[in-house]
Amino acid sequence: MSFVVAIDGPAAAGKGTVAKAVAAHFGFAHLDTGLLYRVVGRVALEKIGPSLEEDAVIALATEVSEADLERDDLRTAAVAQAASKVAVIPEVREALVTFQQTFAARAGGAVLDGRDIGTVICPDADVKLFVTASAEVRAERRYKELAARGEETDFDTVLADVQARDARDSERDVAPLAAAEDAIVLDTSEMSIDDAVAAAIAAVDARHG
Ligand code: DC
Repeated sequence: MSFVVAIDGPAAAGKGTVAKAVAAHFGFAHLDTGLLYRVVGRVALEKIGPSLEEDAVIALATEVSEADLERDDLRTAAVAQAASKVAVIPEVREALVTFQQTFAARAGGAVLDGRDIGTVICPDADVKLFVTASAEVRAERRYKELAARGEETDFDTVLADVQARDARDSERDVAPLAAAEDAIVLDTSEMSIDDAVAAAIAAVDARHG
């Protein structure tokens, strides 16, 4: 039997951590859908260059495979911005729908995290969570993550990046970042990650039993 948990939210709100913990707790499979857009962004930067010319990007998006998600060069700030840019192109989003819906339909349960899972990809998800936090708190978390990985950056640059991505992800015409009407909103600005995970597990438990 399939059981789908949709987790959406802006960059660095903690949805990845929450999604992984929920998947581990219930034994569900987990798909970080941001990786799909990051693969397209990464390959586009390599093969097309910074122009990210639309037709060429669309052609690349049709070739994304599960193996690409294992690449170890998808988590940089440059790739995040490229991902957010290619994600604006409707044909790119369309090319990635089947992969996500097939993943969601697998037996045994699935957790998908992204921007449009509860609204577009899995509108009938069993549980929908919208994990958010203030831009400053998210930038602080992302800054620490990047610094720990040795990426050279400063807080103001990271905050500007987070705000630029928020604006692009929320204001695009197709599948913008938004909480589904029936989503449970978890604001993690003043919540520890353990508390956010516990709240998410409780919400899923209430539906899954
Ligand atoms: O979650 P992330 O930071 O890895 O996502 C990278 C970009 O991909 C994000 O800025 C917007 C895009 N994205 C999207 O448009 N829809 C999704 N379901 C997931 C990510």
